Amino acid sequence: MKKICVVGASGKLGQYMVQRCLDKGFEVVGVCRPQSVNKLDRFKGRISVIPGLTNDREVIKTAVAGCDGVLTVLAPWGIQQYSSGTARAVMDYAEPDARLIFSCGWHISRDGQDVYSWKLKLFVKVFGAIARLLRLVELDDQVEAARQIFQSDTSWTIVRGSDLEEGESQGLPVWSRHVGDPVLASNLTRRVDFALFMVEALENDDLIHEAPAIVGRQSPSALAHMQTTSNELV
Ligand SMILES: NC(=O)c1ccc[n+]([C@@H]2O[C@H](COP(=O)([O-])OP(=O)(O)OC[C@H]3O[C@@H](n4cnc5c(N)ncnc54)[C@H](OP(=O)(O)O)[C@@H]3O)[C@@H](O)[C@H]2O)c1
Repeated sequence: MKKICVVGASGKLGQYMVQRCLDKGFEVVGVCRPQSVNKLDRFKGRISVIPGLTNDREVIKTAVAGCDGVLTVLAPWGIQQYSSGTARAVMDYAEPDARLIFSCGWHISRDGQDVYSWKLKLFVKVFGAIARLLRLVELDDQVEAARQIFQSDTSWTIVRGSDLEEGESQGLPVWSRHVGDPVLASNLTRRVDFALFMVEALENDDLIHEAPAIVGRQSPSALAHMQTTSNELV
């Protein structure tokens, strides 16, 4: 049986990933902030929970020991290198052959070839500046985390999520290498399917060292381009 660590297990994406891992029969270790442990009550007795900040290196070292895969929610919270500290600890302490899957948004670019709408550019600029001023969120640190992951020789995948919505699963999202590709134009994915993609990536070696940008399988742009994209993950 595979043993999977979910870092950031108590958030919305994290809980969907825990559920999906359990559905697949995986053993699950979850890491979440101490004040959020009760958000995982519905999994009591079915997963192990390690309370702690996800950028606490000792917490991560304990949590990832013996795991075949690590699913990490990169959250740009606070101003203490939360994302990059989390990513660094996961890469430093995960088993050498573990699959490491990280979540982030479309604003992360691997090769600078992504083409962004003015809306996304404006959002990142304005939201990033206000959040930094309020010392709430550090978008730049998520960028730094991704930079370190891209340089790593671990078996990483960075899954870049579009705008998200709640709702029933529509199946595995489709993906493309660059934001701006027509298949992604709808810019909407169900959060449950973001989790589905993250978990399926654990067993898809074609996604090693890729940064797929995803979109909902039933979104208009995906339906229109499903026939022509060669990168569809089925
Ligand atoms: N929201 C979007 O529209 C969107 C779009 C594209 C990509 N994404 C990506 O999707 C992933 C999940 O995002 P989400 O928006 O759906 O959120 P989420 O799953 O609810 O996750 C938020 C995470 O941040 C933690 N967190 C919240 N406040 C915190 C604080 N003050 N200090 C430290 N940790 C804190 C939460 O832990 P607790 O349970 O302890 O609060 C949780 O683990 C992220 O990687 C994000 O970049 C999101």
